Amino acid sequence: MSVEESLANGSAEAEDVVTPWTVSSQNDTGIDYDKLIKKFGSCKIDDEMLKRFEKLTGKKPHHLLRRGIFFSHRDVNVILDSYEKGKPFYLYTGRGPSSDSMHLGHLIPFMFCKWLQDVFDVPLVIQLSDDEKAIWKNLDIEQAVKLSYLNAKDIIACGFKLEKTFIFSNLEYMNSAFYKNMIRIQRSVTFNQVKGIFGFGDSDPIGKISFPPTQAAPALSSTFPFIFKNNTVPCLIPCAIDQDPYFRMTRDVAPKLNHPKPALLHSSFFPALQGPKTKMSASDNNSAIFLTDTAKQIKTKINKYAFSGGQATIEEHREKGGNCDVDVSYQWLKFFLEDDDRLEEIRKGYTSGEILTGEIKKELIELLQKLVGNHQEIRNKVTEEDVKRYMEPRDLGFVVKNS
Ligand code: TYM
Repeated sequence: MSVEESLANGSAEAEDVVTPWTVSSQNDTGIDYDKLIKKFGSCKIDDEMLKRFEKLTGKKPHHLLRRGIFFSHRDVNVILDSYEKGKPFYLYTGRGPSSDSMHLGHLIPFMFCKWLQDVFDVPLVIQLSDDEKAIWKNLDIEQAVKLSYLNAKDIIACGFKLEKTFIFSNLEYMNSAFYKNMIRIQRSVTFNQVKGIFGFGDSDPIGKISFPPTQAAPALSSTFPFIFKNNTVPCLIPCAIDQDPYFRMTRDVAPKLNHPKPALLHSSFFPALQGPKTKMSASDNNSAIFLTDTAKQIKTKINKYAFSGGQATIEEHREKGGNCDVDVSYQWLKFFLEDDDRLEEIRKGYTSGEILTGEIKKELIELLQKLVGNHQEIRNKVTEEDVKRYMEPRDLGFVVKNS
């Protein structure tokens, strides 16, 4: 059995399972990401790369990069080399709308994409794979499209520039260029290959087996002729590492279709409230904070469910200190608290026992109530008309400068 196959059906010698559908670990500290890099054959994002980001953009790297939350990549140096020479690239990311609201984990790639779009000033395409969710979750087709539009509001509320962003629902937008690329990819990948990569079996619906090219096609610039005209433009995909199998397949096929292999930036997983052994999941309400949760729900969920790295009694905690590696409140602050100095103060204080679990939770609750409250305020102002504008296939003013 290949590593791909072992991973796909969860029986690799290492107990961590990371697929587009399942993320779980037996370790208290969660997924061993160094091991995962080796298994997937990607590269670690090192200090050298962070310096390159800073030099090329003139901006301090985003805190998700500085803190190693985006920890792995494929061919980002190639993208940066060509950007340095004045050659453009575009960003591609996506969401499988399985619920009417996204959760905090889903925000991670979008927050990061917003930063990348701002500092590199590049076009961004966002796929809403409602077809994927209709197949996997057996959703009514019209309901799946409806969820796409609802999720698009959450995505727009992240602040993407209208003039540089195209959001599309697979079920609603399937033009000739997209379909042609899907077919080119479908005929280049065998059933054995997708079985190996994704673990599909003989009794899976054929919709699942034929879906991966739909997620792959937007990584080829010729899928968007109204944006890129006749240019072949390199693509950079930010996502959590669960999506990597789709893009390993895409990277195999792209050169055969005269396109560059898409580059990737992988993030680690925003943990579930119950701890770092699993990722936050939309299908388990108590594992997640949704972008529609009220201030009260946020407070209750964190106080009730956030796994604590603290000791059993205050006396013991003061004496031995807490464990930030497993404490969900600290881990969440790492994703969302931008102030490095405050984060370090909390880490030191919690580790030494000076800061108690109740105190770290209180700080997290206040931060998230503010963040989610702001998001809701912006989202409530996003109109149906705004959504239509982002989802209209159109020229994004993309030009290739002659060097
Ligand atoms: P979906 O809807 O499961 O997730 C959307 C994006 O969020 C990332 N993600 C997370 N990131 C950090 N912590 C978490 N707990 C967490 N959970 C999810 C996912 O990696 C993803 O980037 N098939 C895809 C949709 C898709 C897509 C794409 C994603 C279509 N085209 C291109 C990335 C790039 C899906 O169902 O994602």
